[in-house]
Amino acid sequence: MRKYTTGNSNLAFVFDIDGVLIRGEKAIPGAGPTLELLNEHKVPFILLTNGGGVSEKERVQFISETVQVPISPLQIVQSHTPMKALAHKHAYDRVLVVGGPGDKARHCAIGYGFHDVIMPIDIVRANPAVSPHHRYTVEDFDRYSREVDLKKPIEAILVFNDPRDMTTDIQIVSDLLNSDHGVIGTKRSITKLKHREDPSIPIIFSNNDFLWANDYALPRFGQGAFRIIVENLYREVNQLKDSQHLHSIIMGKPFKIQYDFAHHVLIDWRNKLLANDTSSQSQFLPNLGSEPKNSPFKSIFMVGDNPASDIKGANDNGWESILVRTGVYDNEDLSTIIAQPTVGVFDDVYASVEAVLKSQKIL
Ligand code: G3P
Ligand code: MG
Repeated sequence: MRKYTTGNSNLAFVFDIDGVLIRGEKAIPGAGPTLELLNEHKVPFILLTNGGGVSEKERVQFISETVQVPISPLQIVQSHTPMKALAHKHAYDRVLVVGGPGDKARHCAIGYGFHDVIMPIDIVRANPAVSPHHRYTVEDFDRYSREVDLKKPIEAILVFNDPRDMTTDIQIVSDLLNSDHGVIGTKRSITKLKHREDPSIPIIFSNNDFLWANDYALPRFGQGAFRIIVENLYREVNQLKDSQHLHSIIMGKPFKIQYDFAHHVLIDWRNKLLANDTSSQSQFLPNLGSEPKNSPFKSIFMVGDNPASDIKGANDNGWESILVRTGVYDNEDLSTIIAQPTVGVFDDVYASVEAVLKSQKIL
């Protein structure tokens, strides 16, 4: 592979996944050739998704096989990837991780450095009455659950991905938000509370997508829908006033914390390309919320299908934005959407990248 030079590496692309490169398990036509085109012209790119629930390595492996282009685990930021920095800081002892297939999110969190990771299935295993209508099979308990001592408090709830058993996750998350200092099976008394908006333990949602695009004809509810349900139940339990809301932390696109983290990952990947060190496994881990200084990029192009997350985030963070018609955005009148793309709307990812490379005189 010819050596990377700084030539075209002062511009870069950042691709959303669902609705841009894939829908469900299938590649969107042009996705693979787009990434090949950028590799051919030595233009750095990474993937920035509000998806997750599995490790970065497993996610890029699936994407690489689906679009038939090799992608490094250092070229992806999932919704929960920045939580690596939390684990690094040992911010919490025992955490409850929610969402994703089976217990893959647990292994992902342990991979980040969290050492005591509980999942709702462990709590149901200990006492099924906690979620009378849970959906777990005997096989699920055998494969995915762990025996845990529930007297030890849970210090934070980390929602990694969309729940697979919404009933159970809603019940257990609500129990903990209203518990006595994170001990499952206990309930705090709201009469003594100074600030009812503050839950017993912090909850971090890794993204706020209300809708996302899979291979169904219409967009589907995402983690944002789960957050709305949790918030409204919390409001009911704590008798909040209309002006009051559950205090929670929300990461993912469109928030600055996610774009700054992705910008650091993009700079790190460019440095590895220039040093011809793309097989490296080590990645620079920025502090959460730290903005890259002296970025080498004159332009970063974000390609997305969701105006509320991809386009708004790129615009709010000074990146160029491209909206494609292969996902959530369904040709609505541009003046009605929450954020307008700075470059334009294109039928698909290949058409958009080809147009930019031509405008940059690379093609
Ligand atoms: O759960 C995934 C979804 O929220 C959107 O993923 O790749 O379109 O940001 P993506
Ligand atoms: Mg998308």
